[in-house]
Amino acid sequence: MLVLGIETSCDDTAAAVLRDDRDVLANVVASQLTHREYGGVVPEIASRQHLKHIVPVIQAALDRAGVRSADLDGIAATAGPGLLGSLLVGLSLGKSLAFGLGKPFIGVHHIEGHIMANWLVADMHFPNVVLVISGGHTQLVHMPALGVFEEMGATRDDAAGEAFDKIGKMIGIPYPAGPQFERLAGRGDANAVLLPRARLEPGSLDFSFSGLKTAARLVLEREGLVPNTNVPRIGMAASDRTPEELLQMSPRAYDVLASAQEAIVDALSTKLDAAVARAGVRHAYLAGGVAANGPLRARCNELLARQSASLHVPPPRLCTDNAAMIACAGAFHLRAGRSSGLGLNAFARGPLESWL
Ligand code: KG4
Ligand code: ZN
Repeated sequence: MLVLGIETSCDDTAAAVLRDDRDVLANVVASQLTHREYGGVVPEIASRQHLKHIVPVIQAALDRAGVRSADLDGIAATAGPGLLGSLLVGLSLGKSLAFGLGKPFIGVHHIEGHIMANWLVADMHFPNVVLVISGGHTQLVHMPALGVFEEMGATRDDAAGEAFDKIGKMIGIPYPAGPQFERLAGRGDANAVLLPRARLEPGSLDFSFSGLKTAARLVLEREGLVPNTNVPRIGMAASDRTPEELLQMSPRAYDVLASAQEAIVDALSTKLDAAVARAGVRHAYLAGGVAANGPLRARCNELLARQSASLHVPPPRLCTDNAAMIACAGAFHLRAGRSSGLGLNAFARGPLESWL
């Protein structure tokens, strides 16, 4: 089965061609760097950029795959959650292509896409628990079987990726901060600064990162570690530091980054460990952009090994937003005989459980 996947839920315009379960023939992602000037994604700019890139990106994916659109067995596009104006570009184009070609269309839930990135690596084991951690989502999902999702916990405020991005931004790391945050944190001492872990009700598998964000800001301000914001550079957010400047920060700044990363890793890994124990499963998965974080993978592995559970993580390029994961989730539904009507609309928010 040949499926074209389309993903435009946030600031990446992506298209991929997938043959059967995991033969990714093409996986094209055009990232919108222009948002860096503003320190975060500007929804109106994102949708205009998607409009500009979507046709060339789909064409490039078909060309790289050596596939004609007439050869496709179906088309899958992200329907939500995400930025409405951005989602509408990929979803409308996917539906029109399917209508024009007379092929089945399937709308995909973005989080199911992130989870199914794991299927692109190998058949998933069931039952399992998945920790979905991205720029917009942080949730623990119990999967008794393929396509069945039961939420065990979720963030009550910021997502894990948002915590990396917002603390990173305070110190001048351009958006999205995650990868550079991880590299710079590697130069610091993770135990140097005591930052808070949210203590929710006993037994809760929810998360909260807003207190950590405030605590990090207070430490940075108190110790005079925030960059000088009085001298804006053209084409750059006032607080952005160049890569050279980031490498020349005071050693204490790396300690704050390392300690903040440690607080996030601690919260995520202990809750995943508790969720796996509570669900009584032997397999755990990570999904979403933050799953690319090395110290997080290592800590989860270490904790889960103690209860003889295995951790599975997709390679970094499949953790961050891409369309191969959307094609994979779409192919699963199409194979099961499901498709969406062309009246399907985009949605900004919506739980995974009640999606299909
Ligand atoms: O899944 P994704 O590409 O987009 C969303 O659906 O949000 O995730 C992007 C998020 C950003 O917040 C980014 O800073 C974070 O993933 N991220 C990381 C790393 N790589 C990406 N966070 C921590 N460590 C990383 N290595
Ligand atoms: Zn995502």
